[in-house]
Amino acid sequence: MLAKNITIPLASVEATNRLATALAPQLRLGDIVLLSGPIGSGKTHFARALIQTLLRVFEDVPSPSFTLVQTYQGKNFDLWHADLYRLSVPDEVIELGLLDAFDQAVTLIEWPDRLGSLQPVSALSITLCQGDEDQSRLADLSWQDDKWDARIKELANDPA
Ligand SMILES: Nc1ncnc2c1ncn2[C@@H]1O[C@H](COP(=O)(O)OP(=O)(O)O)[C@@H](O)[C@H]1O
Ligand SMILES: [Mg+2]
Repeated sequence: MLAKNITIPLASVEATNRLATALAPQLRLGDIVLLSGPIGSGKTHFARALIQTLLRVFEDVPSPSFTLVQTYQGKNFDLWHADLYRLSVPDEVIELGLLDAFDQAVTLIEWPDRLGSLQPVSALSITLCQGDEDQSRLADLSWQDDKWDARIKELANDPA
């Protein structure tokens, strides 16, 4: 499997929202999205916009930085939103039930580096970083699993 990647410039909060809401309907049960990048780069913002697109009934999407995991009922599957910043050892994710969520839900994970070798290879990785302006970001999307090829191509054709 070759690693593939694409960089999408996000000029504003609205551009981030558009990318998140365009990715949302592409997601299927068992998909995992890893969100990396420094504090304040927009990982939670991206996850919130994506999750709210898929919710059965609208609700707030708080940052899971204290609870580690927030779960939601989507229209077609459950959604798990995790923030592993405070995780001390990778084994704690087993207690959280996160590994079970990998095939029973759609899972979004901030600070996936905390997973160490438990990082799933089937995931789409999105790394956000600050752009040239206050409100701009760069999103680097990378993946190994072929299932993402066509989906990401569609996103890239519809620039945020
Ligand atoms: N283009 C952008 N995309 C995402 N967030 C942005 C953007 N521009 C400004 N922001 C702001 O940056 C902050 C990102 O915070 P947050 O999503 O909590 O970051 P993280 O989860 O990566 O620590 C929010 O206050 C958001 O409004
Ligand atoms: Mg966050």
